Amino acid sequence: MEIIIQPTPEEAAGIAARIIARLLRDKPGAVLGLATGSTPLRLYQMLAGMKLDWSRVTTFNLDEYIGLPREHPQSYHSFMRENLFRHVNIAPENIHIPDGNAADIPAFCAVYEERIRAAGGIDLQVLGIGGDGHIGFNEPSSSLASRTRIKTLTPQTRRDNARFFGSEQAVPHHVITMGIGTIMEARQNLLLAFGEKKAAAIAGTVEGPVTADNPASVLQFHPSVKVCLDEPAACRLRRADYYRWVFDNKPAWQTW
Ligand code: GLP
Repeated sequence: MEIIIQPTPEEAAGIAARIIARLLRDKPGAVLGLATGSTPLRLYQMLAGMKLDWSRVTTFNLDEYIGLPREHPQSYHSFMRENLFRHVNIAPENIHIPDGNAADIPAFCAVYEERIRAAGGIDLQVLGIGGDGHIGFNEPSSSLASRTRIKTLTPQTRRDNARFFGSEQAVPHHVITMGIGTIMEARQNLLLAFGEKKAAAIAGTVEGPVTADNPASVLQFHPSVKVCLDEPAACRLRRADYYRWVFDNKPAWQTW
């Protein structure tokens, strides 16, 4: 894992934006995996401001609530349209977001996996992280080999996300999420985390044992993961000084 610790979320998001911009310039037909939540918001603003060519880019989102109409302001369809897609020249047919209103959810999930394969697999997956270490909506105890499927949110995640819905009762219980096995097949993972509320989950992800109790810890088995953090999110890392030194002394050919 490459741990990139920056003083502020702004600087950490800037590095993530440069990594993605470089991918889109090197591979105009890249396949991106995208995340929602407050963490990638600034990253998406930055990408939209970079005037990149998205015309051949394909995207797959990690997850979606079950039962929310697409037009609901808190659906991840709305989130992606508002925060990224309406600002870039992506072709609508290249956008994939789980359909939380599919009549046959298992069949939909199988088709979603098939579409990722047919697109050539995900080149780079953007990830946020829940306070309990969830990635996508793979809550603690998720199978580390799981594929796209229905999940039930934990009370903690419903409480955390209540801030978007006005009340906890309004947060759906069920979601569709890419599985951990699906995420592990992306060629590159780019995990962002900001704020002290994420510090324990990040410490477990980077330095803890690999355990379904902190699903993001499985990324230790992935060959190419970058973790972009601000200082508060990094505050519980035992080897933070080492990661800083590594980053500050990267050979020029390794940077973006
Ligand atoms: C939700 C999303 C995750 C996201 C997490 C953290 O549960 N499904 O993909 O990483 O929230 O959200 P935030 O970035 O708002 O802290």
